[in-house]
Amino acid sequence: MLSSKLPQHVKVVEVGPRDGLQNEATPVSANDKIQLIEKLGDAGVNYIESGSFVSPKWVPQMATSTEIFEKLNRKKNVTYAALTPNLRGFEAALAVNADEVAIFGAASESFSQKNINCSIEESLERFAPIMEAAKKANIKVRGYVSCVLGCPYEGEIAPEQVALVAEKLFAMGCYEISLGDTVGVGNPASVTKMIQAVSARVPIDKLAVHFHDTYGQALTNIYAALQLGVGVIDSAVAGLGGCPYAKGASGNVATEDVVYMLNGLEITTGIDFKKLLQAGWFISDKLGKAPISKVSNAYLAQEQT
Ligand code: HMG
Ligand code: MG
Repeated sequence: MLSSKLPQHVKVVEVGPRDGLQNEATPVSANDKIQLIEKLGDAGVNYIESGSFVSPKWVPQMATSTEIFEKLNRKKNVTYAALTPNLRGFEAALAVNADEVAIFGAASESFSQKNINCSIEESLERFAPIMEAAKKANIKVRGYVSCVLGCPYEGEIAPEQVALVAEKLFAMGCYEISLGDTVGVGNPASVTKMIQAVSARVPIDKLAVHFHDTYGQALTNIYAALQLGVGVIDSAVAGLGGCPYAKGASGNVATEDVVYMLNGLEITTGIDFKKLLQAGWFISDKLGKAPISKVSNAYLAQEQT
């Protein structure tokens, strides 16, 4: 660890099999998704968002989630999580023994409508029975806030608005709040302002950052968040994906790029970098495209010479 301001260890939340693959046009079989999840587990990634129990009409790519959770060979130390927008989704996740679930709200009214077909307030009402059922089933719930640094429909979003929604999700019982730059428009200055506003209401050690890399700012934004004391980073292997309801938004920051940077900063993650690269190459091959990760492509070029 090179700076006393930075955390010594970071928890990497791998969202590739969910956030990544939910937006890929090329169909990926349940079997290939399972192989990806298992390769990530073998690489030491110990939190994998593995699917999403949403309407298959809204996000057809996630329709295989039940099959994935049923057939997956699980590792003891890995948390296999799923997104659940309503009680029906939660019950589906529970039926296949998802270890954890995540509810997903937004700091923007328009995005909330486009993504989950209800207002922010209505979404919180829909989440309440999930929280109750999760408590009974002893399942932890993570909370997402989307559009924390901008909205594809409304443009700028006030940090205070993000803080209010984050605080509500935290007060409902979410153990961690993931702050999503869904459209990837943030920069270190806007990230800093937003995290300062949120951490005035939710403890910094309960916050995660979730950056899409549309404007190429994700790594530098992560560095800004680390300096503020954030210790949980969402990322997607091979830089997969995006959100179907945020047109033009590119994939999440690549896990390979994040781990390469953290290794350089001497921040531990528990991830075997070589095996992570291989997991990224595996899924990129299935998708018939190069990884959206500069680090991964650089290592791939070395392998091929
Ligand atoms: P709705 O139309 O308001 O709800 O959708 P509804 O209750 O009227 O149901 C509509 C249809 O969906 C019905 O089917 C229901 O049975 C079915 P039909 O009668 O028309 O045949 N349905 C379900 N099916 C399976 N599982 C369910 C479920 N619930 C209803 N759980 C709803 C509301 C929330 C369901 C819908 O809007 C939806 O599925 N949205 C999901 C959108 C989504 O997954 N977006 C991507 C994930 S969020 C994201 O990527 C951002 C994030 O990464 C952070 C960031 O980057 O910022 C997390
Ligand atoms: Mg996302």
